[in-house]
Amino acid sequence: MDQPESDFSGSEIILSKPRVLSGIQPTHDSFHLGNYLGALKQWVQLQDSHDAFYCVVDLHALTVETDPKNFKHRTLVSAAQLIALGIDPNKSTLFIQSQVPAHNQLAWVLECITGFGEASRMTQFKDKSQKAGSDRTVVGLFTYPILQAADILLYQAEFVPVGEDQRQHIELTRDLGQRFNNTFKTSRPVFKIPQPHIVKSIAKINDLQEPTAKMSKSSASMSGVVEMLEPADSIMKKFKSAVTDAGKEIKFSEKDKAGISNLITIYSALTGKTHDQIEQEFAGKGYGDFKIKVAEVVIETFAPIRTKTNDLLSDPAELSKILKAGSAKANQVANQTLSDAYAALGVVQNG
Ligand code: TRP
Repeated sequence: MDQPESDFSGSEIILSKPRVLSGIQPTHDSFHLGNYLGALKQWVQLQDSHDAFYCVVDLHALTVETDPKNFKHRTLVSAAQLIALGIDPNKSTLFIQSQVPAHNQLAWVLECITGFGEASRMTQFKDKSQKAGSDRTVVGLFTYPILQAADILLYQAEFVPVGEDQRQHIELTRDLGQRFNNTFKTSRPVFKIPQPHIVKSIAKINDLQEPTAKMSKSSASMSGVVEMLEPADSIMKKFKSAVTDAGKEIKFSEKDKAGISNLITIYSALTGKTHDQIEQEFAGKGYGDFKIKVAEVVIETFAPIRTKTNDLLSDPAELSKILKAGSAKANQVANQTLSDAYAALGVVQNG
């Protein structure tokens, strides 16, 4: 095997792990199977090989109208679920965005170098604002991607694990970081320019009732959305009534058999079995048998997560301690970057 090239042969090299940062909005009482297989499972995998920062982006969730009681619960239940599904606070820095004021502070700075037209071209903003109409669209939705850029740039993140739908926001983040670095030159660039970490092979899970549409909490009905904190019998019921296709073979074909293919994707992601192996395992069996089997592995995966989430929520002092430690570390990193950005801008700072 080739030896890695090194200019430091003989001396000890301490290679720090590459940093990743990602965030998830606490907009619901539970994450769902699509969140889990499409993103969160990958967050867990990355925490060993990377210096991971994960945040519950509650400020972003304020762009959606919420009841204060729900908001508080959803923020905490989101953090608890992340821990329960395997984000280890001893390995990763887990925190709540609003507990790190530098996010808002840097967001303002970045807003001052973002073009109005540039922000207007964000497709998520365009879609959402078109649906709601301009009188019902809040300005926070317009500046949302700039706050997201601040989330990322503050931590000097190298990679941002996200889904394809976030690519444009990461592009904007890169543009803003580069623009700042070029405009406000210092001996060392203020921001690291991050890269999106969009894994093509990652499982994209569709709605069980509408298997050509992504599983999403904003879909018309919850009957095709499987929640992480849902009771086992309810999960089983949803799988049993999953929409399947004409024919009776368990065969992967997104085009002709969207329903069965979605179930195969779920089963494969949870068991590590390939599509071929699954087709063989269920050769000669009916859709009904397969649906039950898929439901069983989902239930098996989610049951311990549900228990652990409830345990964490029943000990608010402990959860709060974990989050406090996370935000202390996050504040340290974020404040250093903010201070460098202010210095580059010529903002007077005390001390
Ligand atoms: N916009 C992201 C989403 O909806 C959430 C998010 C906010 C985020 N800040 C982030 C993702 C920073 C990655 C990095 O999925």
